[in-house]
Amino acid sequence: MSDKKTDLVQWIDFSPLSDDRGSLVAVEGNKTVPFDIKRVYYLFGTQPDVSRGFHAHKALKQVAICVTGKCKMLLDNGTEKTEVWLDSPTKGLFINDMIWREMHEFSPGCVLLVLASEHYDEGDYIRDYKEFSNLKELVHET
Ligand code: TYD
Repeated sequence: MSDKKTDLVQWIDFSPLSDDRGSLVAVEGNKTVPFDIKRVYYLFGTQPDVSRGFHAHKALKQVAICVTGKCKMLLDNGTEKTEVWLDSPTKGLFINDMIWREMHEFSPGCVLLVLASEHYDEGDYIRDYKEFSNLKELVHET
């Protein structure tokens, strides 16, 4: 996993197995991604002018891969915000717990695959930005 200028943006580069038939990427839990993969979901049929996300997770870790098309991901750790394009089936974006995320500008036909460290639990979501920011401040004070 490569850390760029900030640990907010952590890319995982997948090595595609390519030959004259095309390419294949294999992703394995606790090997290619730094957690056991308990859930996989994907977003498709997204609309160019409709954003998604707007939440953080208390414990869940995820890797997002745009297998087709592209979208913009905003990441916010409470003190720093950044936006990156997800636009490659050979690049995964690791999203740690307690990171606010928003997805914007989905291209037509975009398919965003997400690997998750836990089963679905609505109780793990923080959907209110003020609550997220208050929790982050508490962590910084301790
Ligand atoms: P949500 O996580 O809010 O979507 P996004 O972040 O892409 O905007 O999920 C949308 C709905 O789907 C919400 O009602 C919760 C439900 N959901 C599940 O039931 N299981 C899942 O694994 C996920 C990711 C969402």
